[in-house]
Amino acid sequence: MNSSTEGPVLVIGAAGCIGAQVVANLVRDGATPVVFDIAEDRRRLHLVMEGMAADGVTWVAGDIREPDLLKDVISEHKVAAIIHLAALQVPFCNADPVLGAQVNVVGQVNVFEAARALGIRGLAYASSVAALPPEGEAWPSTLYGAFKMADEAIADVYWRTWQVASVGIRPHTVYGPGRDQGVTAAPTKAMLAAAAGRRFAIPFDGPIMLQHTVEVADAFIRAARAGVASTDFGGAHVCDLCGADTTIAEVVAAVRQTVPDARVRVDGDPLPFVSGLDDGALRKLVGDWPRIDLATGVAQTIRSFKDLLARGLLDGDDAYRDPLGKGHHAPYDA
Ligand SMILES: NC(=O)c1ccc[n+]([C@@H]2O[C@H](COP(=O)([O-])OP(=O)(O)OC[C@H]3O[C@@H](n4cnc5c(N)ncnc54)[C@H](O)[C@@H]3O)[C@@H](O)[C@H]2O)c1
Repeated sequence: MNSSTEGPVLVIGAAGCIGAQVVANLVRDGATPVVFDIAEDRRRLHLVMEGMAADGVTWVAGDIREPDLLKDVISEHKVAAIIHLAALQVPFCNADPVLGAQVNVVGQVNVFEAARALGIRGLAYASSVAALPPEGEAWPSTLYGAFKMADEAIADVYWRTWQVASVGIRPHTVYGPGRDQGVTAAPTKAMLAAAAGRRFAIPFDGPIMLQHTVEVADAFIRAARAGVASTDFGGAHVCDLCGADTTIAEVVAAVRQTVPDARVRVDGDPLPFVSGLDDGALRKLVGDWPRIDLATGVAQTIRSFKDLLARGLLDGDDAYRDPLGKGHHAPYDA
């Protein structure tokens, strides 16, 4: 998205793992990101982009639960498109369901209200594979998934009632620098541990769909651009994102291709993941973006971690820290 022709892109939730990479990719493409996040925390930006560029990104600290704030930000910064990624993850929604609903559902309404009021045509937002009910069930299995399902319904109503077009993307499990919290951060943490020469136990096994942050960010940018680029881009689209349809055993093998003596083991049962998803519909809708296969993505991630460790931006203990689940990522006993 070219800033000179289309205007800045508002990235909501850009202090997070996917958002930081979206900001980095926008800057890479010559576009102008404007960050909106409740946290004024550039830590993940510094992991994925050059230091001075990260410090120079325009940053608005604010809460998406406030109804009119987003409208002011969009007007003030002449925003042309929105990528909405702010959310509370599964453990936070469980710990405080009311706050979870306020951020994940009321926040979605506020984003769509702002887009409606200011005529924003490029709007992409993050749903999740968690919005899909498990096989044989009618509803998602978590509150977080129920909120994401509601978000998809909200987008649909905004299209049918007020013609606010949007693209919802359902990531599965994202990996890469900046993916540092939640149970499914374990594959990334194993890569960090391998880069640091430390031990790591991935606490689950079985199939997994892993998506590299750079590829996920490109998909969101394409989705936001699609509505700006075309005057007849209508609808409330919701699409899956698949990345590498793989297994934890293959992830460990890929880590060992880059670090042959990596001390990574698997210590748990399969998680109840949906697998076999396809991103063909999204690619057809918004145009293609480069795929990052598992071997390339794992090698790139470990290379980035080695660089970040050498520069002191991460240390080996970061493989075991998890703001969401204390003790989730313990090293295994030798
Ligand atoms: N990471 C994954 O594997 C994954 C998988 C499926 C879906 N998703 C979805 O993608 C999106 C981005 O995921 P992520 O991993 O980058 O999440 P993250 O938790 O790293 O980042 C979320 C960001 O939202 C911000 N935020 C929270 N409450 C806010 C509020 N009230 N106002 C403004 N900002 C607020 C946080 O400060 C944080 O920077 C989320 O919607 C998430 O549900 C992620």
